[in-house]
Order: sequence, then structure tokens, then C-alpha cells
Amino acid sequence: MAAGLELQGVVAGYGQGDILRGLDLDVPAGRITCLIGPNGSGKSTVLRVISGLLAPRAGHVLLAGRKVTGCSPSAMLGHGVAHVPQERSLFPAMSVWDNVLMGAYINHDRDAVARRATEIAQRFPIVARRRHDLAGSLSGGEQKTVEIARSMMLDPPVLCFDEPSIGLEPRARRMIFGILDELRRDGRTILLVEQNARSGLAVAQDGAVLEAGVIRLAAPAGQLLDSPEVGRLYLGAS
Ligand SMILES: Nc1ncnc2c1ncn2[C@@H]1O[C@H](COP(=O)(O)OP(=O)(O)O)[C@@H](O)[C@H]1O
Ligand SMILES: [Mg+2]
Repeated sequence: MAAGLELQGVVAGYGQGDILRGLDLDVPAGRITCLIGPNGSGKSTVLRVISGLLAPRAGHVLLAGRKVTGCSPSAMLGHGVAHVPQERSLFPAMSVWDNVLMGAYINHDRDAVARRATEIAQRFPIVARRRHDLAGSLSGGEQKTVEIARSMMLDPPVLCFDEPSIGLEPRARRMIFGILDELRRDGRTILLVEQNARSGLAVAQDGAVLEAGVIRLAAPAGQLLDSPEVGRLYLGAS
């Protein structure tokens, strides 16, 4: 099922300015690539370009070697690329179950969607346990788990996660990183953006550092963890 992603010379931004300035990034199939970089450097923008929320001004996005540049978000979902955004994205006044069903909004076969949701509920027990509860009543870690469950509704070979551990307490954080590792062991391709660079690189096989709109460093994740310069800039004292 694995499919790799590649960004080639991507230029993108909002309004007048460019945030990404000719960015090249390789996200190899069946692995976790962790993208780190300072606040405001454009990490979320990279994910928005991949998921079709923001069309690049130049450059290309390739999925399994095929150009998908400028596809709409629903087309990218259809191509098998899911995006779990940084901000909380569940509909708080809808039930957990209905939120999960929304993950398959491009599939109009309601029976097939319901069957898939039942499979998802087996894999993510919180979906079964809290199915009738309003999504807004769940804890942060539970909501993130339901967001991930929702992103799995179309069985995507490629998943992009934008700071999934942000704002979570340590136990919930570990649980989320454990889920990412399981998804990778299924054979999925994962692009993980993390402020918590140490934990992100620890679960990843590959790492990349975004600075001033380009990838300044791409290396095996372990090598970035051991790099004194990366350590000083991104890993803190812990
Ligand atoms: N919707 C938007 N409109 C205008 N500027 C934006 C928008 N989203 C992000 N930006 C700006 O683009 C830059 C990169 O943002 P972002 O990709 O969110 O960075 P990161 O995820 O690395 O913190 C920031 O300077 C931010 O203020
Ligand atoms: Mg961001």
C-alpha cells in the first residue's frame, strides 16, 4: 500500500509573500518523516500544500511519482492522502460517531461507510466507547485519537500529522506517538510535523529541518537527534 510523497521546488504563501521558497522534500514510502523547524517557518504550510488546501505558486507535489499538484482537498483524499490539522478539527457539537463518519465524506455509499466505521471502532476503542458522546466533551488526547480514527476512514496510504501532540499531557502524547508508530508498521507513509522535536524524531526514521522556506537539513532521524547543532536549536536541554 505504501506510496511516497515528494515536493519539488515548491513556492507557496498567503497574499503577497512567499513562505515556502523552492522547497524540496522527500517523504519515503512506509516510513515516518518528521519535519521540524521554528515557529512560523512554514511547517503547516507544507502540509496545506500537500493536502490541497493551498495551491503552490510554483513547483510540484508528487504522489507515488505522479503529479498531484493543485488537486483539491477532496481529490487528495481520494488519492489516499489524509491530513490531521494542527488545530482541533472535530465538530464539537456532533457525536463522536458522526465525526468519524465525516472522514469518508467523499464516499456516498452509506452502508460501506458504516461498515468501515465499525472496523475503525474496533481499532480505536474510544470510538466505540464514546460513540454517542459529543466530541467536544472529550479530553484533548481523546479528541486527537478520534481525529486520527476519522482520518483512517478511507484507509489512506499516506497521512500528514500537524503537531498531533501539542497541548497534551505526557501520557496522551505517548499514546499518540504509539498510534503513529502502529500506522507506520501497517505500511503507511507518514509526514509528521512536530514542535516536540525530540519525541517526533524518536518515532521517525527520517528527519528534515525547515528554515526560511527551504529544507536546510534532511537526514536519518537518529542523526538529527545526535547533531549538536540541531540539539542546540530544536531539542532543548531535556
Ligand atoms: N492563512 C494565513 N494567512 C496569512 N498568513 C499566514 C496564514 N497561515 C500562516 N501564515 C503565515 O505563514 C507563516 C508560516 O506559517 P505556518 O506554516 O503556520 O508555520 P509553522 O507551522 O511552521 O508554525 C507564518 O508567518 C504565518 O503567520
Ligand atoms: Mg504549524
